Amino acid sequence: MDLKGKVAIVTGGSLGIGTSISLDLAQNGADVALTYRKHEKEAKAIVDKIKAMGHRAQEYKVDVSDFEAAQKLVKDVIDKFGRLDILVNNAGMNWDGVIWKMTEEQWDAVINVDLKGTFNFIRAAAPVFREQKSGKIINITSINAMRGRFGQSNYAAAKAGTIGLTKTVAKELGRSKVNVNAVAPGLIETDMIKNMPDDFKQSSLSETVFNSLGKPEDVAYLVSFLCSEKARHITGEVIKVDGGQYI
Ligand SMILES: NC(=O)c1ccc[n+]([C@@H]2O[C@H](COP(=O)([O-])OP(=O)(O)OC[C@H]3O[C@@H](n4cnc5c(N)ncnc54)[C@H](OP(=O)(O)O)[C@@H]3O)[C@@H](O)[C@H]2O)c1
Repeated sequence: MDLKGKVAIVTGGSLGIGTSISLDLAQNGADVALTYRKHEKEAKAIVDKIKAMGHRAQEYKVDVSDFEAAQKLVKDVIDKFGRLDILVNNAGMNWDGVIWKMTEEQWDAVINVDLKGTFNFIRAAAPVFREQKSGKIINITSINAMRGRFGQSNYAAAKAGTIGLTKTVAKELGRSKVNVNAVAPGLIETDMIKNMPDDFKQSSLSETVFNSLGKPEDVAYLVSFLCSEKARHITGEVIKVDGGQYI
């Protein structure tokens, strides 16, 4: 993939899937601005790796649920890097619980990060992409947006909302030649699933046709493709990376 000269924002680049996406975009030639909230050391280490590849990189501490912070971040990135070509909305969290025990705090936290956070960054980048008549937006959703998952009503609702957001924005920004797609991973081995119960992980594993869980780079390779001109005719899509977990 040729992403030379492109500038990307990756939210939640400090861990897991976001780290792999940041590194693979850089591997393909892009400069990367990545955000983190808590894991500063990890974010700085990824930035150092990207710089060692010969590309520009910078970490930014941002809570994606903060509307104004997203506006400021996009402005800061354009001030530093001179342009913006790619936005990957990857930052996410889960806080599981069955619906009859779910608190308002649990519901709001996940909706604010996973759905509103994605809106915040698209809202900040859309005027830039419209003006320059180009841009790539990739939103990370989940297969559980499409099928639901026991104990994840807040997460599934946020990720399903992200799919509706993706398709609508694809229509709205199409005439500005902006591609907007969503990637829906199945269970991927990252910190996010560390604290999930073993039976949850085991049942996910047995759902895959390969009897194996995905790795962060499995998601990253698809993201880099969708950010490239090879995917110029793909928009409004939701593409699963799940080893057949949800067929
Ligand atoms: N792992 C899976 O099985 C799986 C499956 C389907 C979809 N996904 C989705 O893939 C994305 C990445 O997941 P992951 O497994 O890589 O998760 P992870 O290892 O827990 O990493 C989450 C990332 O999001 C950042 N983040 C969380 N809340 C944030 C906030 N309020 N503001 C800014 N950044 C925030 C974290 O930053 P700090 O830690 O620095 O705060 C971290 O970089 C998420 O959207 C997730 O829902 C994951």
